[in-house]
Amino acid sequence: MTKISALALLLLGATPALAADKAAAPPPYFVANCFNCHGTEGRTHSAIPAIAGRDRAYLEETLKSYKAGSKPATIMHQLAKGYTDDEIAVLADYFSRQK
Ligand code: HEC
Repeated sequence: MTKISALALLLLGATPALAADKAAAPPPYFVANCFNCHGTEGRTHSAIPAIAGRDRAYLEETLKSYKAGSKPATIMHQLAKGYTDDEIAVLADYFSRQK
């Protein structure tokens, strides 16, 4: 139990640091939310578009459009609302660097 709460605190504490340094690799839990649908490290082989290795600016713009509701989507417009613009930049940077 204490181990789990300590981990939770560690994760909570790590979140604000994310935006501060875009070049640093985000912690695995942060990008893992996206793996569920887009495949491990964004390499999907399904109807859901792969996001690994895509242009960073494209990913960032697309996520911001989903968030703003200006790009039609079935699910991404809901998900994108959960991220700040800085977090979106971290996500775009991470997935653009995957092979
Ligand atoms: C519940 C499944 C699901 C999850 C979780 C999910 N996505 Fe998506 N994603 C989709 C679907 C489906 C689409 C196609 C657009 C739509 O219908 O919403 C999409 C589209 C995208 C696109 C546009 C790709 C293109 O070719 O234009 C990007 C970028 C993207 N997602 C990034 C992410 C990121 C980053 C995360 C993690 C924060 C994430 N997605 C989490 C299902 C998901």
